[in-house]
Amino acid sequence: MITLNYEQTARWAATNEVNALQSKAMQSAELLHNGKGEGSDFLGWVHLPSSLTPAQIADIKATAQALCSGVDVVVVIGIGGSYLGAKAVIDALSHSFDLLQKPRQHPQILFAGQNISEDYLYELKEVLKGKSVSCIVISKSGTTTEPALAFRVLKNFIEKTFGKKEAQRRIVAITDQSRGALRTMATQEGYKTFVIPDDVGGRFSVLTPVGLLPIACAGIDIADLVSGAVDSETNTAPNVDFEKNIAAQYAAVRNVLYSKGKKVEVLANFNPKLHYFAEWWKQLYGESEGKNGKGIFPASVDFTTDLHSMGQYIQDGERSLFETVISVASPQHTLEVPSEEADLDGLNYLAGKRVDEVNKMAALGTQMAHVDGGVPNISIQIPALTAYHIGQLIYFFEKACGISGYMLGVNPFDQPGVEAYKKNMFTLLQKPGYV
Ligand code: PA5
Repeated sequence: MITLNYEQTARWAATNEVNALQSKAMQSAELLHNGKGEGSDFLGWVHLPSSLTPAQIADIKATAQALCSGVDVVVVIGIGGSYLGAKAVIDALSHSFDLLQKPRQHPQILFAGQNISEDYLYELKEVLKGKSVSCIVISKSGTTTEPALAFRVLKNFIEKTFGKKEAQRRIVAITDQSRGALRTMATQEGYKTFVIPDDVGGRFSVLTPVGLLPIACAGIDIADLVSGAVDSETNTAPNVDFEKNIAAQYAAVRNVLYSKGKKVEVLANFNPKLHYFAEWWKQLYGESEGKNGKGIFPASVDFTTDLHSMGQYIQDGERSLFETVISVASPQHTLEVPSEEADLDGLNYLAGKRVDEVNKMAALGTQMAHVDGGVPNISIQIPALTAYHIGQLIYFFEKACGISGYMLGVNPFDQPGVEAYKKNMFTLLQKPGYV
């Protein structure tokens, strides 16, 4: 089970202050469940894990199997919520050097449509030459420029390489039930499709086919992922008291810290596999809370790497930060520091210790230093990097995000701010209707 420990925030968020927010946190959790809060059209994610049926999971698994069999590379096209969840889970649960692993049990998963870089798309086409390629194109609106452009390039490549008929078999589209250019195209071209439910917003969609199909293609057990999320759904429901409800606690603590001028939350990990998990988390919290001139700014660091760069600011810069550290109790592998007779590097004091023990001491030392330096520290621990525990963590953060947004007084489920750049870009590119 995930555990949450916020003892190291006590200097800034006293127990009575956190407790004072108990009822607001629990009322906010209740609003998510009774659908009476703002943005209630987008609450499909609240009961999503427990409502996924074995037949739906089996369909996704079978599609992944068909899409991946004999295939070297699956290119997943999407941006924002149609990209980050899959990338986060796949990176967290894959071999660190997956691209170099042989023999392979599953295709390599590459991503596109998350930028508009000409070099990126050109070089992607370059590496795909001579390989057997499939593609999953994901866009809820079906009209987002970045993935649409990347898909045009990839579709053209796949059709030219494998022929139009075979391309039909190699492409799966995940989009709205009836609206958008991608839906129209998928119908006309005869692609297999999955629907993104109307009531699930992009950043809450990782447990729909948006995340589950690419994750299944990476050889990860999506049933385990969903089962972790189901348990988190139960453990964070409004009928679970505040004392046991870690989503409500996390939401309450971060709101107390925010009210004390801690405007930036730095999500830290001590395992590089969690780098993209933090990217997913940043979208979830940034897009949900950053509106109406309010919101904690979500940032992230990978430790110990970033202790040698951002560590200086966190220790000693402006005191507007708090840290939330995700730690993993047990690594997947065992590696001890070897002993050396000459001890030229002076590391024999570590000989025989697990590398993970060194990492854990680095984590503890960092926590002590940062708290001493004025940075409140929230600690979230998961037992191991398994599909089940990542599923738990995903739903925990989603639930806490909804609660926290309501506590802050914003609608956590809209994103009006992301439209501004699009309008300017379309005008500059002379898109019909925008000139
Ligand atoms: O959370 C969101 O709604 C956004 O980040 C979207 O996921 C992102 O803009 C991609 O949108 P779409 O799936 O419609 O292409």
